[in-house]
Amino acid sequence: MHSRHLIDLTDLTLPELEEITQLACDIKQNIDSYYGICRGKILATLFYEPSTRTQMSFQTAMLRLGGRIIGFDNPANSSVSKGEGLKDTIRVVSGYSDIITIRHPVAGSAKAASLYSRVPIINAGDGGHLHPTQTLTDLVTLRVEKGTFSGLCIGVCGDLKNGRTVHSLIKALATFPNNKFVLISTPSLGIPLYIKDYLSASGAEWIETNSLAEAMPLLDVLYMTRIQRERFASESEYISQRGVYILDKDKMSLAKKDMIVMHPLPRVDEITVDVDDDPRAKYFEQTEYGLYARMALIIKMTEHSVKKLEPVPKGENVKCSNPDCITHRETYLPNTFVKNGDLLVCEYCEERTLL
Ligand code: NCD
Repeated sequence: MHSRHLIDLTDLTLPELEEITQLACDIKQNIDSYYGICRGKILATLFYEPSTRTQMSFQTAMLRLGGRIIGFDNPANSSVSKGEGLKDTIRVVSGYSDIITIRHPVAGSAKAASLYSRVPIINAGDGGHLHPTQTLTDLVTLRVEKGTFSGLCIGVCGDLKNGRTVHSLIKALATFPNNKFVLISTPSLGIPLYIKDYLSASGAEWIETNSLAEAMPLLDVLYMTRIQRERFASESEYISQRGVYILDKDKMSLAKKDMIVMHPLPRVDEITVDVDDDPRAKYFEQTEYGLYARMALIIKMTEHSVKKLEPVPKGENVKCSNPDCITHRETYLPNTFVKNGDLLVCEYCEERTLL
């Protein structure tokens, strides 16, 4: 892989995406033949936020490759509870492991971790920002279930504002030709501006709607998401948004016969359980493909050797305008931006600040 870290799926070139998803499909067919590829290697899983599938599939992936695992799934049981910053934890753990996967509640945390790591960092979800390995899982699902990443009409429904899986998925699928997006949400949980800009720049067609029923007949893929309760400022705000979109048997009857339903899980109430028996429901298969996707990714990323840490360059004298950006929590981080016209795009969380 040309990039050392996987912070955003854009760190992979299209041929690399092709290669990793193809490898995942081969692993699916011949999983036992991959045992031993990572013998002697250690994966650290640093989970500052709850997780079932992502954490366990990473751990299973490394164990199935013959490697070993260390880590924490509750920062309260680590030195984080004593006030240790991200930089110090990462410097230490990158001396103990060959590859690190990190999930953290703050946008930009994985990018921040990559600055202080001697080994590759994989972003397993940074706040409401991105979740590239879920997207890799989703791409393997599309490869197996639809046979293509192109020419699809993809509906994404639910909490498009805070759902990091949706942000990564749209960024990835917009790079393939002839995909159309139907963004289904309430106005207050709409997709962030930076993703809309990304979509428009890619040339992909997209529309916004608040009606799941009206969108159903158009779709080749429906990607449902839960309302991200933990990212709301207040419980009453969450209550006002929950239960708006529920996929049930009646709505499924409006869909194409070969449409597929995906969901990163966990599901709360946005898909009724009777939909699980519909052959178009692929969300449990999707969790299994996540294992193969992560095995393929670990194989590719452990090809990088341990690197000597270079001093981190100084940043700008401008602060990111997003109060939830990691640069406001870990204040030693250099403020770095990419210029886009009269905007500065934060390199950690992608929020835009006016020059
Ligand atoms: C997602 C996440 O953590 O963003 N879960 C997952 O990794 N499969 C989706 C969610 O929590 O809603």
